[in-house]
Amino acid sequence: MNLGAAATQLRAALVTPVPNFFVRSHAPVPVIAADAYRLHVDGLVDQPCTLTLEELQQGFPVHTVTATLQCAGLRRRELTALEPIDAAEIVWDTDAISTARWTGVRLSDILRRAGVQPAAAHVGFLGLDQVAKTQDGLGGSIPLAKALEDDVLLAYGMNDAPLLPIHGSPLRALVPGYIGARSVKWVGRITLQVAPSTNHFQARAYKLFPSSVRAETVNWDEGEMLGVLPINSFITSPQAGVLPTNETRRGAVFVQGIALAGGDAVIERVELSNDSGQSWTAATLTSSPQQWMWCFWEATCSLSPGSHELVVRAFDTAGHTQPMHLADVWNFKGYVNNAYHRVRISV
Ligand code: MTE
Repeated sequence: MNLGAAATQLRAALVTPVPNFFVRSHAPVPVIAADAYRLHVDGLVDQPCTLTLEELQQGFPVHTVTATLQCAGLRRRELTALEPIDAAEIVWDTDAISTARWTGVRLSDILRRAGVQPAAAHVGFLGLDQVAKTQDGLGGSIPLAKALEDDVLLAYGMNDAPLLPIHGSPLRALVPGYIGARSVKWVGRITLQVAPSTNHFQARAYKLFPSSVRAETVNWDEGEMLGVLPINSFITSPQAGVLPTNETRRGAVFVQGIALAGGDAVIERVELSNDSGQSWTAATLTSSPQQWMWCFWEATCSLSPGSHELVVRAFDTAGHTQPMHLADVWNFKGYVNNAYHRVRISV
């Protein structure tokens, strides 16, 4: 099941109502009774353990994090306009992104209880779903240093309600600042290991290749395993096309959008251009920028009748901004498009 709400709907609330939250699943939702659920923690730990949901909920401090989840395929459609992308990939627009208040236990609390051995460098997750192509669950890993951060969760709640099956209940990983694929849903096993996960979705899928590589020439042992998300911003309204007269008052066009900082940084500013990037003005941030969380912005442009290209770019506290052109980021799998977002409108 793969679903995404319209960009204007996403832009309507800083915390996305669950019915509007995007869904990305590589396999059918597994049916897991809460009382039959077990989390296994093994690998390079002093005390491998098996925990019930009740033990997780009662035996560890509860922690809540408001974080944006973004799929690596966000904005893939724009890349397909340049050159076709692997046909197996979902052609996401700006809809594979949403924000929730996640409640659960800190992954670090579980890892400390199990006792991490010095040789461990990566924390692998394995989902209880069954992906037809791999005959295995979706898995992946994050570096141990990331796993020990306070805001990396094993979540059982979303927006102050129990997590829904489509979003990973009874338990999912929540790795703020990383591509959505590392926030493994229906997580059944956590393994401490020396190297990154060998699961298909870490070792093969969700890898970034240079623009010169094609499906026919790819060497899957190469490529960069995606992890930390890059900075991104996009316009949610107006949409491309001729603006209805009620959206322009004496040539003033109201523009709204979303920005997300890279990794653990925070958005510093967002700039909008109404002349294809020749000149820029600061947009107003309408939500206060916070770590792990998208921020909303708006601007009013004065536009003469005719055709114009609106362009947005963001800057974060780590000094990152976005690449200018789609060609700068094109890759045959269509991952992590964070080029300047452009919308052509006619006034
Ligand atoms: N976990 C499992 N077990 N199986 C999946 O298919 N999809 C991943 C991730 N975790 C997936 C998973 C991807 S690609 C994304 S973007 C997020 O879950 C989406 O989470 P959501 O469906 O709650 O929005």
